[in-house]
Amino acid sequence: MQGMSPLPGIYDPDFIAANQGERANNVLKGSKKEQVQKIIQDIRDFKSKTKVDKVVVLWTANTERYSDVIVGLNDTKETLLASLERNESEISPSTLYGLACVQENVPFINGSPQNTFVPGLIDLAITKNSIIAGDDFKSGQTKMKSVLVDFLVGAGLKPTSIVSYNHLGNNDGMNLSAPQTFRSKEISKSNVVDDMVASNAILYEPGEHPDHVVVIKYVPYVGDSKRAMDEYTSEIFMGGKNTLVIHNTCEDSLLAAPLILDLVLLAELCTRIQLKKEGEGKFHSFHPVASILSYLTKAPLVPPGTPVVNALAKQRAMLENIMRACVGLAPENNMTLEYK
Ligand SMILES: NC(=O)c1ccc[n+]([C@@H]2O[C@H](COP(=O)([O-])OP(=O)(O)OC[C@H]3O[C@@H](n4cnc5c(N)ncnc54)[C@H](O)[C@@H]3O)[C@@H](O)[C@H]2O)c1
Repeated sequence: MQGMSPLPGIYDPDFIAANQGERANNVLKGSKKEQVQKIIQDIRDFKSKTKVDKVVVLWTANTERYSDVIVGLNDTKETLLASLERNESEISPSTLYGLACVQENVPFINGSPQNTFVPGLIDLAITKNSIIAGDDFKSGQTKMKSVLVDFLVGAGLKPTSIVSYNHLGNNDGMNLSAPQTFRSKEISKSNVVDDMVASNAILYEPGEHPDHVVVIKYVPYVGDSKRAMDEYTSEIFMGGKNTLVIHNTCEDSLLAAPLILDLVLLAELCTRIQLKKEGEGKFHSFHPVASILSYLTKAPLVPPGTPVVNALAKQRAMLENIMRACVGLAPENNMTLEYK
């Protein structure tokens, strides 16, 4: 990457921690609409200069605070585009990049936790049939959680308390030390157990949830070597308790970089898969909200009305079986009837 120089980016100090100000030394000027137009031009220039067939854009810039979702501001494609014309302050940089990509029909993936995909942007992506996917790379602690909670609930061990501490010392940690950006990460990490808990009506009463707490602290000394400490307490037979404690030391960036590559490759693949149900006349592409990338994301973005699946094994089976279908193989059902 030594030969690469970054293009100017959209910087809005209102959306990220104040401690990021010094890094913002290559920024785009102009109104939000002009910034979107510049990003569109950059995508076109990149495509013609490099002669690539397709472009996929992935957001791995700073975690932003959540944008307010307000009727008349960003709740539909019309209001979002009108807000862009008015240069409304509540449109985040990541949403501006998303808008540019959707308008250019370039797949756009959000690797960070904030709500880049406000309803108006999702609405526009669906209308334009332009692929969007997110949110937040599922690289470490949450990946383990989406395995362990699925296992515990499935085994009839009832998780009642899940407490996760992290400390890290890289720039992401510094940005997350501001309460508003931390809140985005907290939300993204929090919902991961919901579907697994809801899937077992024997263990949990309707509306019952385990206590689930996530703490992140910035400790510069540890740098990119993030520490994740988790305690899972479950209720077991005869009112007994079972506690699992995990201490994970991980190279944060080395876990995320391969996910970036896989997300981009999968998004590109999505642009080429066509399907039709029995009886349907014409083939069509996947829904533009690409839930097949959810295997790699913490808080999967799914088409409106679609159930969210967080369990890693189920997400993997979905992906694997779609790949099998693409090469004409039946889905893997694990019955192994041929040996029975
Ligand atoms: N394991 C992981 O590393 C991991 C896992 C899940 C999610 N994430 C998320 O990925 C994102 C990036 O993580 P990181 O550790 O690389 O963070 P980082 O802070 O080291 O890097 C982000 C970079 O983006 C730059 N930037 C900000 N706005 C920009 C813009 N508009 N255009 C271009 N560049 C811009 C910043 O100056 C900074 O250099 C964060 O949101 C983080 O929460 C990372």
